[in-house]
Amino acid sequence: MVMCIADVLTGMEVDEIVSKISTADFVDGQITAGWHARQVKKNTQLKGDSPKSTMVRGIVSQALDRNTLFQIAALPKTLSPLILSRYEVGMEYGSHVDNAFMGNPVMRSDLSFTLFLCDPKTYEGGELVIETMQGEQAFKLEMGSMILYPSTTLHRVTPVTNGVRVAIVGWIQSLIRDAGSREILFDLDTARQSIFAQHGKTSEFDLISKSYANLLRCWGEP
Ligand code: NI
Repeated sequence: MVMCIADVLTGMEVDEIVSKISTADFVDGQITAGWHARQVKKNTQLKGDSPKSTMVRGIVSQALDRNTLFQIAALPKTLSPLILSRYEVGMEYGSHVDNAFMGNPVMRSDLSFTLFLCDPKTYEGGELVIETMQGEQAFKLEMGSMILYPSTTLHRVTPVTNGVRVAIVGWIQSLIRDAGSREILFDLDTARQSIFAQHGKTSEFDLISKSYANLLRCWGEP
């Protein structure tokens, strides 16, 4: 399931991040790429071990915690270290798959996300293109919005031809490893919340809640 989530970061949070990184050190993005992705990764990124990087992670982590749609879709267990990437004119990230394991302690990447930090009207190119069974899908979202997609996919960032593209990328290990199971849980949770909103805590709501909890017990890796 590929999902766009609007307004994950508020305008104030985007402004805070953008102003803090305006004087930050950016390094060659190849340092965090896998050996094969390194051949096609041409961008820069915020130095990972800097106080500014810690500040960005804090803001994003809080934003994800409060975002209900993200929580029910991702069922997150672990959030990876984040990468704040910057693409200037001519930069791109060719087709690649993300590393399956990353971080220390090691985690599995089940879901990848890109959080867009620039107004899409201020740069050209820089679309995130994901290869799906239905063909390629290209995304260039509003400032503060996020695309969440399976880490299992091949994907790329098209060359920036004008302006600058700044975005945060990160990965999630989900409590539910299998994408199909995660989608069933997402649908059930969405349905029971709609029933609750329209009719309250009915017996149907209780039965779906029971099934939801029991499927979590079957499939979950807490
Ligand atoms: Ni990637």
